[in-house]
Amino acid sequence: MIDFRCDYKKLISADEFEVRVDEARNNILRIQQDDFGGWADLPINYDKDEFARIKKAAKRINSDSKYLVCIGIGGSYLGHRAVIEALGGERNGVKVLYAGNSLSARGLRTVIDEIGDADFSVNVISKSGTTTEPAVAFRVFKKMLIDKYGEELAAKRIYATTDANKGALHDEAIARGYETFVVPDNIGGRYSVLTAVGLLAIAVAGIDIDKLMDGAEEERAALISDGGEAANYAVLRNVMLEKGYDIEVLANFEPSFMYFNEWWKQLFGESEGKDNKGIFPASVVYSTDLHSMGQYMQEGRRALFETFVEVKADDNSVLVPAEDGDLDGLGYLEGRSLDNICKVANQATRDAHVAGGVPVMRILIPAVDERSIGALIYFFEMACALSAFTLGVNPFNQPGVEAYKTRMFELLEKPGYKK
Ligand code: PA5
Repeated sequence: MIDFRCDYKKLISADEFEVRVDEARNNILRIQQDDFGGWADLPINYDKDEFARIKKAAKRINSDSKYLVCIGIGGSYLGHRAVIEALGGERNGVKVLYAGNSLSARGLRTVIDEIGDADFSVNVISKSGTTTEPAVAFRVFKKMLIDKYGEELAAKRIYATTDANKGALHDEAIARGYETFVVPDNIGGRYSVLTAVGLLAIAVAGIDIDKLMDGAEEERAALISDGGEAANYAVLRNVMLEKGYDIEVLANFEPSFMYFNEWWKQLFGESEGKDNKGIFPASVVYSTDLHSMGQYMQEGRRALFETFVEVKADDNSVLVPAEDGDLDGLGYLEGRSLDNICKVANQATRDAHVAGGVPVMRILIPAVDERSIGALIYFFEMACALSAFTLGVNPFNQPGVEAYKTRMFELLEKPGYKK
């Protein structure tokens, strides 16, 4: 389903490439057996009862709320935002708002102000149940719910997605009777979008989560035995790094993919950036960024390679209209679809960047729909894990994220921490 293309022969011989891909694909079993490799078989091995409960909860939220506030950070928020925005936003009249992904008072105030007097529910998502940013935001929205509905009804509007057995959020949810969903033990935050972490908000937005899982399942079938195109991409990323290209820029021409880019950056950045290693993941959305980052891409320091995410399907919904006089000189484009012009811009950008010394890879999805996005998520997760193992790092931990937390607790004088 995902089509990966790269003209790699200037970088590595076909024989050497095959050997490297063979080495990479040896890690698939290792991933499936890893304590945090649960995402690899998730599309065929998820909790169907919980899946049904997610749909039921989404229906309830759609019937009693105008807003769903999703409280979470990192892997507990980026995935569902990426999917909802890539697929064109909410379709059901319930707007999904995001909180707890920063400590900005202004940011939180904006969400509170937007809700105003409207009915709302909260999905608080934290695997550890102790992350400060979402925990603080949860307190704020919990109080708002209690003030508005009273304790008992407020509890019915809180959906907690967290560890099955432990953590502050888990304990509170049990004590107060919130409906709970599980972040599986064997799936880390950045690989969790296709669990309850992402699926509740996505379902509330009116997106078909069955089709999303079908897309992931189809892609899993294509990759699970030998890594397929994901192994090719994983190996070539590492070849780029070895040749001195240590920045990967994910590029696409769809503004709605901005949060998909953010999700991808977290996936690769947090999985690979450790032990003083790793490709730095960056992203652009063209044409917008051709007029900001385009200059650098074309002529800046030659340490970049670029991975384009492209859509195969055509969208003929907007055509260049005819106009008398041709004063703007666009007569030659009359009747042509905007999407077609965009695809030409995509090709022109690739050609120009290749000519400018930027190695280019392409990832093509069939369409912007649930199946394709489900497949793309699975493709990147598999590619990321294979790439990290090829690089020689553990894709599933994030020891570096703790450093700022510890220092913050010291500065805030949290009990147990010394300033
Ligand atoms: O990918 C990860 O593991 C992280 O980004 C976490 O998702 C993030 O730190 C939030 O953690 P938690 O869900 O425990 O609040």
